[in-house]
Amino acid sequence: MEKVTTQTIRQMKKNGKKITMLTAYDYSMAALLDQVGVDILLVGDSLGMVVLGYETTLPVTMDEMLHHTRAVARAVKRAMVVGDMPFMSYQVSSEQALENAGRFLKEADAHAVKLEGGAEIYDTVRKLVASGIPVMGHLGLTPQSIHQLGGYGVQGKEDETARKMIQDARALADAGIFSLVLECVPVALAKKITETISVPTIGIGAGIHCDGQVLVTHDLLGIFEKFIPRFVKRYAELNKPIKDAVTEFIEEVRAGKFPGAEHSFEE
Ligand code: KIV
Repeated sequence: MEKVTTQTIRQMKKNGKKITMLTAYDYSMAALLDQVGVDILLVGDSLGMVVLGYETTLPVTMDEMLHHTRAVARAVKRAMVVGDMPFMSYQVSSEQALENAGRFLKEADAHAVKLEGGAEIYDTVRKLVASGIPVMGHLGLTPQSIHQLGGYGVQGKEDETARKMIQDARALADAGIFSLVLECVPVALAKKITETISVPTIGIGAGIHCDGQVLVTHDLLGIFEKFIPRFVKRYAELNKPIKDAVTEFIEEVRAGKFPGAEHSFEE
């Protein structure tokens, strides 16, 4: 089985083959997603919201990210594993960024890291790439800047912000990123960026023209119930069978029906 690498991802854009990326945070789910052929598993800092129950991604720590990245990496045979650098693990200086990015590869077996931001992180991206750490960029709605952005709305709707996003995409491509997440971006702008840079774009709420698509797995499977962004397609409603199964377990235990003889040891 051929492992997915940065070269595979770049080649997929050249060949017009769509890239699939999903988030993963634990061993069992990562194994399932890898078995069915998802190209990239992103240990996203969405971990904070869908697994750890924080209100935003801001409180997520390096230790939490490394812990979950290790679990995902242990499960994976084919997919590329990307660790999401949490808020304040790369913004202070490019030295701090290099140290923390290095931990993802050295201590957690990630194959690459993801950073949010545009031209302002150009030097940092260059430093990471020059040190042998593949970097995925992230533009548009960047949840770590939620307080600056003022909400989870579509980004790049005005001419000026659209122009700035194209410049940022060019800067990141120039700095050496191997792929770029575009989140909550109008379809036409995502198309323009996808056509402008040779680096593959991976969209979430960015329309059909991106080189690939990513979703948060807990959204796709209908496990996360707190809110459903418009760009999410729920391919399953697993909340229901999970609740049904657990309700049945509770009822059977209370009624003295579980465990039966087949689940018990006579000696
Ligand atoms: O943290 C995350 O899950 C992400 C994706 C939504 C791209 O950044």
